Amino acid sequence: MLDSKAHHILGQSMAVGERINFSQYMSLALYHPNKGYYMRHGSVFGQQGDFVTAPLLSPILSKAIVAWLCEQGVDDVLELGPGSGVLANQILEQMPGLRRYCLCDMNPGPSKDLVGDPRAVWVDQVPQGFSGAVIANEWLDALPFHRYCWDIDQGLQEFLVKRERAGYQLVLEPAVVTPEIKALIEQFSPSWPSPYVFEYASGYGQALGQMTRSEGPWLLLDYGYEREEYYHPDRMLGTLLCIENHQVVPFSLAKTGVQDLTCAVEWTLVEECAAKAGYQLAQFGTQADFIMAHLGSLPLTARDKKLLLPFEMGQYIKVAAFDPKCSAQTST
Ligand SMILES: C[S@@+](CC[C@H](N)C(=O)[O-])C[C@H]1O[C@@H](n2cnc3c(N)ncnc32)[C@H](O)[C@@H]1O
Repeated sequence: MLDSKAHHILGQSMAVGERINFSQYMSLALYHPNKGYYMRHGSVFGQQGDFVTAPLLSPILSKAIVAWLCEQGVDDVLELGPGSGVLANQILEQMPGLRRYCLCDMNPGPSKDLVGDPRAVWVDQVPQGFSGAVIANEWLDALPFHRYCWDIDQGLQEFLVKRERAGYQLVLEPAVVTPEIKALIEQFSPSWPSPYVFEYASGYGQALGQMTRSEGPWLLLDYGYEREEYYHPDRMLGTLLCIENHQVVPFSLAKTGVQDLTCAVEWTLVEECAAKAGYQLAQFGTQADFIMAHLGSLPLTARDKKLLLPFEMGQYIKVAAFDPKCSAQTST
């Protein structure tokens, strides 16, 4: 029983009887060195992998991002979580005047295999004083998150992974209620059905905090909702998605390190964390609006349309641009 995929990854970190929360589990399942989902040698991106993202489908997103980069007047770009490196390649090709393109990924392997431009530089973190733009497509949704279940009788419980003598189990136990979670419960639970499952990414603050080593604007693209919509009563099963071979599949501990784990981004929380890091929201809207605003009307292929259509990536994916607060103040 213990020779499952879960044991392969969790075994070294967990003793019998120990529990870890879903966020800690995700950190191991996705980013355990060599064995985590994103750290494996074979690429998970593209038709041969498990999923496709917008830049892999059509170059119109990179064209719109290039238009935004030109508006910002930056010489350098840093991409967080470039994955396959396809967006980096498209931007480098369209911007011959760009001086440097930094790539920062937990696993730089796939992008190093693809991106051959001499202006590409791989970094472990945002360099101190980096004055270019920081961009990230579908990076926030890959950050670990907690999973909770609120119930009118049981109160708030958290999903934990527990190591038993015979194997691993997903269990629900009374949650430690942080002030942030308490505020969410107070605001939204009166309208929730019982039980109500939801996710909370406590790591946004730290992830965005490290971006403050940069001094330039940020552009973040990801699927998700603003807070009222995120914690809507209809979303009673939460937004966790487990993906394997281009299919949404049920969560399985036996598939630890084999299935991708992701959830929708809570954009109001991103905005709050950015504000704490000294950044303010400059633009927010759907991917379709961002592309149309930067490219205008174009002849479109069927693949381009996938990035624009409502009920597909066009509406579900949001684009948020942030400016450092001091530069926004001096420009007004
Ligand atoms: C869903 S993939 C998106 C890849 C790519 N941006 C795209 O659109 O195809 C998320 C990527 O973020 C990377 N990642 C996750 N957490 C990270 C972190 N803290 N720092 C850098 N990269 C990270 C993962 O290794 C993975 O390559």
